[in-house]
Amino acid sequence: MQDISDVKMKLLAQIVASTEPQDVLKAPEFKSLYSVIRTLEQQERGVYGKAVNDLKIELEKAIERRESELLDHTVTPLDVTAPWDVNGAPVQLLPTTLGTIHPLMREIAVLSDIFERMGFAIEGSREIDDQLHMFEALNFPKGHPARDDYDTFMTIETDADGEPLIAPAHTSTMQNRVLRKYCQNLENDEPIAAVVPDRVFRNEDLDARHEHTFYQVEGIYVAKGVHAGMLIATLQEFLQAYYGKKLDVRVNPFYFPFTEPSFEFALSCPFCEGNNPDCKVCSGEGWVELLGCGMIHPNVLKAADIDPNEYTGFAFGCGVDRLVMMKYGIEDVRHFESAKLDFLRQF
Ligand code: PHE
Repeated sequence: MQDISDVKMKLLAQIVASTEPQDVLKAPEFKSLYSVIRTLEQQERGVYGKAVNDLKIELEKAIERRESELLDHTVTPLDVTAPWDVNGAPVQLLPTTLGTIHPLMREIAVLSDIFERMGFAIEGSREIDDQLHMFEALNFPKGHPARDDYDTFMTIETDADGEPLIAPAHTSTMQNRVLRKYCQNLENDEPIAAVVPDRVFRNEDLDARHEHTFYQVEGIYVAKGVHAGMLIATLQEFLQAYYGKKLDVRVNPFYFPFTEPSFEFALSCPFCEGNNPDCKVCSGEGWVELLGCGMIHPNVLKAADIDPNEYTGFAFGCGVDRLVMMKYGIEDVRHFESAKLDFLRQF
């Protein structure tokens, strides 16, 4: 019996190391166990014979396992879902280069990461919204002339008031929702701080600087004692992190119904840093107008049930496509949605 267990250990070890595991059954040690049977007394034979037989079964199982293991390594996997040509040969469809994430999606991840590290929550917008969020909640009452500044796509569908639903023309449509969602923060003496990077739509004539579908990132910050200096510092900090260099910023007065005061925000050209008179990004000006921003209008805070006598805040809305074009010196915004592979493959 001791023989049997010695032979078993030895042969099992051979099987797992062998490339021809079947041959192990022909091993002399194994064969000799059978010749032992004949030499035994009648009553011992049964027990011993069964033990040899059990060993054989165990070895066969081990051989089977080893064979399937060998098969896994030696057979080239066949994609049974791949199409075949008329001669029955597989058609090689695998692209030689892998796809990449779209540059705008990648940059949105980069800028969201920067804002997150600055303490802003990330929120999403929507692709169909109502006029309440596009206009009324942003201090554009009905008939306000500034409504015409936004070439808003309207749908045939209407809301409960019979007003057409719209495709949001800016991410500011999310201001009221963000203020309401995070108003609890103010009671806990924490600011409301969120950014909304998402898609917007405008019904305008297309050229190298205008697309009907593009991306903005909205910033919203409300707390006690927030002032315009904090707005400018936040934007400068963000832009320097995004472009990885020191930048000068400049603000000019502007008008938006939902901010007061409102500013147009410019920065020193991140592409040529003011050193190239032929720069394709700043046309040699050294400065680029980048975004609109301002201190949130008291009526916008009131529309979200926030007391403007107690809290103030800032908001900004920055074109993401512009931001990315200035980073890489891309001259035509239409490239982004063009599905041109030689453009996309550069990223
Ligand atoms: N929503 C404005 C636009 O798209 C930009 C903006 C956002 C201005 C927030 C001020 C505050 O033109």
